[in-house]
Amino acid sequence: MTPHRRIDEASPVRIALLGCGTVGSAVARLLTEQAEDLRVRAGRRLELVGIAVRDTTRERPGIDSSLLTDDPLALVTAEEVDLVVELIGGIEPARELVLAALDRGASVVTANKALLATHGAKIFETAERNGRDVYFEAAVAGAIPIIRPLRESLVGDEITSIIGIVNGTTNYILDKMHSDKQTFESALTEAQELGYAEADPTADVAGHDAAAKAAILAGLAFHCRVRAEEVFCEGITEVTPEDIAAAESMDSVMKLLAICQVNPEDETVAVRVHPTMVPRKHPLASVDGAYNAIFIESQSAGRLMFYGPGAGGSPTASAVMGDLVTVARNLVRGATGPGESSYRGLAVADAGAIRTAYHIRLQVADVAGTLESVAACFARNHVSVRAVRQEAQGAVGEAVELVIVTHVARTQDLDAAVAELRLLDQVTGPVRPMRVEG
Ligand code: NDP
Ligand code: HSE
Repeated sequence: MTPHRRIDEASPVRIALLGCGTVGSAVARLLTEQAEDLRVRAGRRLELVGIAVRDTTRERPGIDSSLLTDDPLALVTAEEVDLVVELIGGIEPARELVLAALDRGASVVTANKALLATHGAKIFETAERNGRDVYFEAAVAGAIPIIRPLRESLVGDEITSIIGIVNGTTNYILDKMHSDKQTFESALTEAQELGYAEADPTADVAGHDAAAKAAILAGLAFHCRVRAEEVFCEGITEVTPEDIAAAESMDSVMKLLAICQVNPEDETVAVRVHPTMVPRKHPLASVDGAYNAIFIESQSAGRLMFYGPGAGGSPTASAVMGDLVTVARNLVRGATGPGESSYRGLAVADAGAIRTAYHIRLQVADVAGTLESVAACFARNHVSVRAVRQEAQGAVGEAVELVIVTHVARTQDLDAAVAELRLLDQVTGPVRPMRVEG
């Protein structure tokens, strides 16, 4: 391992910024506006030596254009750079640049959850080998301090579950679909205009952004490695106004939840992201707009909740700046912060083994024997029915909506029951299962 790097007393901490978009431009401005306070807090002057972007000709208010370059590799491998702040996003060239920076001897701050949830093992191993830091508070839940509590404050406790809203864009969209009866498309456009969405918003609405964050949270909480591709993931693209109305009729709201749990029976970790009905009385139900919230349950501390702005340039820059000062302090002291902890090596559970309760809407013919046939589909697949409601009252034989709420069941059993329901003669329309929490 390379010895920890220590900056000599006369030198500033020299920072290379990769990206000057929603988050990067806010960070660049704070570095200038707060320069004097940051110098005192970090113990050295923080000097921005370059900003890599794609288009160096674009007007960027408040940004010193002489710092702009379109050669990020030359910037991160420059001899004088101590700290690289990666705010480009996506996998390439961010992966190559982060690894090059670490190998060259710089520490890294990043907000890039997609990168860490895909190539985290290689990045942390490279940082360790070079005696450098990788800090990533902004990668999960924007401004909310959640990485440091998991990495440091709770590292002596035994975390058993994490349930959270970790994507601001989708929370904004679902909130607007409920409160303003806005369409999915118009709410997404607003979220993009407000700077919440990823460069390609498919990452948000398909659940991939939340899945990457869930993988990072599960890895930190349970001391194991979880990759984004191992997370069971369903986004909100299929959520319809009818689903929203169905949730409201149950005094609930639709939320995109990230859920990470250890199954003590087989020592596996179940990590999933999907739209979920949450009762209005549940604290997660009142998390609106682009806010995020994360519940943690642990053996000693009990229940903890973290809440705050989950996206947007300024809130995310707050988390980046916190990392930046911390890493600068480490450089000044010739120290590094905590590295990766994956010693438990827990396996990730199969999607089919994941257990949750369901709310199922189906259109049936209102004739004798329908309920019995429907109930038999659940019984044959070991799914216990908790409540049944028939919505409309019409003449015998007319189509009516049946709502069934189950007890907690395995996903594979519920899927099998739904497949059988779809084959019943008495089922005359779509069968719509939705997961329920709380
Ligand atoms: P933007 O798309 O707004 O900005 C990306 C920046 O990277 C732009 O300045 C762009 O240059 C630059 N860039 C892109 N590709 C290259 C390249 N090949 N070489 C050099 N520069 C490049 O992204 P955000 O600021 O929204 O997000 C940045 C990171 O922060 C992402 O990892 C994101 O997931 C994360 N994040 C974002 C949050 C948010 O609310 N926006 C919240 C939390 C995390 P140019 O300006 O010339 O196009
Ligand atoms: N696109 C992300 C979100 C940004 O909406 O939550 C914050 O990570």
